[in-house]
Amino acid sequence: MRWLPKNCVIVGTSGGIGTAFVDHLLQQHGVEKIHCLSRSGQISANDVRIRNHILDYEKPETILSAATKVKNDAPIDLAIVTTGLLHNKNGFGPEKSLRQLNADNLARAYQINAIGPALVAQSFLPLLNKETKSVFAALSARVGSISDNSIGGWYGYRAAKAGLNQLLRTASIEHARRWPESVVVGLHPGTVDTDLSKPFQRNVADGKLFTADYSVSQMFNVITAVTPADTGKIFAYDGTEVPA
Ligand SMILES: NC(=O)c1ccc[n+]([C@@H]2O[C@H](COP(=O)([O-])OP(=O)(O)OC[C@H]3O[C@@H](n4cnc5c(N)ncnc54)[C@H](OP(=O)(O)O)[C@@H]3O)[C@@H](O)[C@H]2O)c1
Repeated sequence: MRWLPKNCVIVGTSGGIGTAFVDHLLQQHGVEKIHCLSRSGQISANDVRIRNHILDYEKPETILSAATKVKNDAPIDLAIVTTGLLHNKNGFGPEKSLRQLNADNLARAYQINAIGPALVAQSFLPLLNKETKSVFAALSARVGSISDNSIGGWYGYRAAKAGLNQLLRTASIEHARRWPESVVVGLHPGTVDTDLSKPFQRNVADGKLFTADYSVSQMFNVITAVTPADTGKIFAYDGTEVPA
């Protein structure tokens, strides 16, 4: 029988992919509760199964306080971290050359793309279901693969996603000792039409710019298919493994 989650947590529900995950879960049979975590603590979907909470990586204490609230509905079957940062309106963006490296921006890329999700794992992995399959997934990116890096550029984002992949893998090993039915994975969504990819969409090949709904339905299929043997791996939206 196909695995379906009952109690879910989505981190980053103001984002393009986070919003689509909430919409997708609302359409799934058997989903009873969706805890939505975002900086504003508010999302537009109106459904009795939704609970909103504030979570901001620049205020790390909000991660633990959100987990404390979610704990009342534990065990959690599915937790997905959909936060991430590639560019912002304040001039932060991917570096094309070593000359553009800047300590503050490198630290910021790491804070939002790697440290934040790792602290979410710290607070939320203990809430996962121990009795049956449960999944903790974090949005990574193919550019975080070191062996797949043949074109260079995007230093901070690449390095932060590579760091995220290592943090997930390490957490998966520790978590499996007490949660043998549980799966911790990273997900590459493909190139998805959201604010994050907007400035970089011109170079995307025909048919390779996905809607968030398409990418999320593909990633949800991956999540339902993974087993404990897959824990610690990174999967693309089409189910193929992304090399480290
Ligand atoms: N779109 C793509 O083509 C693509 C490709 C590969 C990987 N990814 C990955 O997929 C994930 C989702 O990306 P997306 O395309 O949905 O991007 P998005 O629409 O820009 O969403 C990014 C999310 O991250 C949140 N966030 C940023 N800074 C935060 C902070 N300090 N504390 C808490 N939340 C914060 C944003 O919250 P606010 O709304 O409050 O800013 C937003 O919810 C990211 O990890 C991204 O790296 C995306």
